[in-house]
Amino acid sequence: MTETVVAVDGPAGSGKSSVSKAAAKRLDFAFLDTGAAYRALAWHVLESGANPEQATEVISSLGGFDYSIGTDPDGYAVHVSGTDVTESIREPRVSAAVSAVARVPEVRAHLTALFRSIIRDSDKAGIIVEGRDITTVVAPDATARILLTASEEARMSRRSAELATESASDVAIALQKRDRADSRVVDFMTAADGVVTVDSTNLNFDETVDAVLDVIRTSH
Ligand code: C5P
Repeated sequence: MTETVVAVDGPAGSGKSSVSKAAAKRLDFAFLDTGAAYRALAWHVLESGANPEQATEVISSLGGFDYSIGTDPDGYAVHVSGTDVTESIREPRVSAAVSAVARVPEVRAHLTALFRSIIRDSDKAGIIVEGRDITTVVAPDATARILLTASEEARMSRRSAELATESASDVAIALQKRDRADSRVVDFMTAADGVVTVDSTNLNFDETVDAVLDVIRTSH
């Protein structure tokens, strides 16, 4: 039974994955990257030759979607039907397909139920769960609820530094497109009632982790 649940939402490039993972390590908590599950499904849809833009094809793919997602911040890996897809779910083709898959209500209901069972069954004292709708839908009763933001400029430049193989403008365009599509489904740019905003625009990585840890400590 997980005692402390920390919900972290934010847009692409806000650093929520790496910051949440580092905070989980510091607290010896489990870590759940829900975006990785949406990406794993998008990868599965593409691999099975289905059209990610067609909700009926996406819903059919859910039947054969057998995935596992690690919750250890150190040995984190994602598998679909036994294949390690940890790296391939970050490919641009998956990033381009994921919003269409994630807007299907049946997909959201299916994955939300899985996330809740992962949260419930974690064997650590706490878990940090990050995504777009964790503070509002997946775990609205979480012990600590955080919206991690950063200016668009900061998010674009962090993401292009991560993906050194793509040009900065390609990354910026793809990211803006994905944020626009995602925000039609879930509002992850404004903090819901009781959610604490951490703005990392002028913070370095360690300072952002410390700010998140402060919110967690004061939320008990
Ligand atoms: O966090 P990341 O950018 O890897 O998420 C990939 C995609 O998964 C998002 O662009 C969004 O479409 C979807 N997602 C979601 N709800 C979440 C987490 C991710 O719709 N809780």
